[in-house]
Amino acid sequence: MRPLTIIGNWKMNGSLSSNQALLAEMLSLGGSLFKRSDAKTQFGLCVPYPYLSQAQGLLKDSRIALGAQDVSDHPYGAYTGDVSAQMLGEFGCRYVIVGHSERRQYHHEGDGVVARKARAALQAGLVPIICVGETEEEHDDGKTLAVVRRQLQAVLDLLQGQIAGCLIAYEPVWAIGTGKVPTPTEAQDVHRELRLQLAKFDDEAASKVAILYGGSLKPDNARELLAMPDIDGGLVGGASLSAEEFVALCQENQ
Ligand code: 13P
Repeated sequence: MRPLTIIGNWKMNGSLSSNQALLAEMLSLGGSLFKRSDAKTQFGLCVPYPYLSQAQGLLKDSRIALGAQDVSDHPYGAYTGDVSAQMLGEFGCRYVIVGHSERRQYHHEGDGVVARKARAALQAGLVPIICVGETEEEHDDGKTLAVVRRQLQAVLDLLQGQIAGCLIAYEPVWAIGTGKVPTPTEAQDVHRELRLQLAKFDDEAASKVAILYGGSLKPDNARELLAMPDIDGGLVGGASLSAEEFVALCQENQ
């Protein structure tokens, strides 16, 4: 069985003082869970760029790895406002989210740029968390599998064998921040389809790559979702802003 991976995505939330309090509370509630080197689950928190240094300092003695929420597809140069993967590495990032639906929707990021961002992250030694997921309309039109397949295929075409170094997150857009969640079986069907698509490409990678679920994941719905054979963890938005909820999610399956 693949170990669980629980990663928080703070999105555009936080302040120096609230981050300090939140991280201190998480570390205190999590106690030995975030210290033990034998804990099965991998943990991470993706924070806004300006807080990377603060979070790096506060998390340095814990097993919660640091991550960012986006990255440039270029290594350096005249790209005002962008941040390169190498810069993220300098702040101790292990993870970076690419292709989050909020980037696809509000910043018009297409499958091609998402794949190039994942490649840039890998080249700098980071683990990209590649998000896929259908909108409500696509879901209602029965297009879920076609959409996620197309999104994953763009990444597979560019990354080829390097896909083994990535994480995938299935985040149905209609479930993000809405309190609506697919049934465990419905989510499992999509995860299984993604795994089969990976297997067609690279059998070994398919068995290794963690496919996380994201979208209104909370302590009260996590157990059933995380028990599904192809759901290997969670990408957690709102609940990662509450120490109690995030720690409860991290304690699943311990
Ligand atoms: P919520 O957990 O707030 O629904 O957000 C999910 C998400 O978008 C994580 O990346």
